[in-house]
Amino acid sequence: MKIPFFNTNQLEESFHYPEDNTPEHVAIIMDGNGRWAENQGLPRAAGHQEGVSTIVKIVKTAIKSKVKVLTLYAFSTENWKRPRHEIDFILKLPKEFLSIYLPELIAQNVRIDAIGDMNALPFFTREAIQHAIERTGDNDGLQLNFALNYGSRHEILNAMKTMIGDINKGKLSLDELNEQQFSGYLYTAGVKDPDLLIRTGGEKRLSNFLLWQLAYTEFWFTDVLWPDFSEKEFLHALEKYRQRERRYGGILK
Ligand code: FPP
Repeated sequence: MKIPFFNTNQLEESFHYPEDNTPEHVAIIMDGNGRWAENQGLPRAAGHQEGVSTIVKIVKTAIKSKVKVLTLYAFSTENWKRPRHEIDFILKLPKEFLSIYLPELIAQNVRIDAIGDMNALPFFTREAIQHAIERTGDNDGLQLNFALNYGSRHEILNAMKTMIGDINKGKLSLDELNEQQFSGYLYTAGVKDPDLLIRTGGEKRLSNFLLWQLAYTEFWFTDVLWPDFSEKEFLHALEKYRQRERRYGGILK
């Protein structure tokens, strides 16, 4: 299933990668793996496996497009409600992905990071992610964030608990507390809020993803199922973003 990162074939070379007004941070809800598999009479796991190939293509395109941060929603706090065998399958994928692609990601100057509560993940998932974070920590190219066991409400609640602790200890002043300080308590501390959110698979909801961080993000939804999501579709989403006017509640001068 290995797709080399940079075996640039004719088709890919024919694409245009504009450099102006590229979203710095793109977040993606990768939805539709199960339906993709069911449509072909395959077990749902086949959809998740194929979804990894899409990750490879989209990471490659994000690098070429000079996107700075790519955050992928890989496993939510709600996904524990799925059958055990499906959970086990999904949680083995990061290790499989990294065992194949980590050398190429390092070569491409990618920095890997993760958001979410890692403690509840199986040891092999945590270990693979931790190893990748350490190995790529000095890289300054694309930051690739995997959201694993991530839930935005859980993140906000935990941030509040820690923050209130700091207020009680006198480390932080309640009167001076501002949005930027609060953001510093989230998993995404120090990372620019997403400029563009893409959700594949036809649903139009946030599913507990980055609720605080998406306050002024541009949204782009597509019916295409994640395993079918292509380089071309991704470039199209970036192009649509370029055409948007971001006013942040103000007016254009
Ligand atoms: C949503 O589709 C997808 C997921 C819950 C899992 C996404 C995981 C991957 C694409 C692989 C993760 C791998 C790495 C390397 C981090 P769904 O199953 O809800 O689809 P459906 O709505 O069609 O049922």
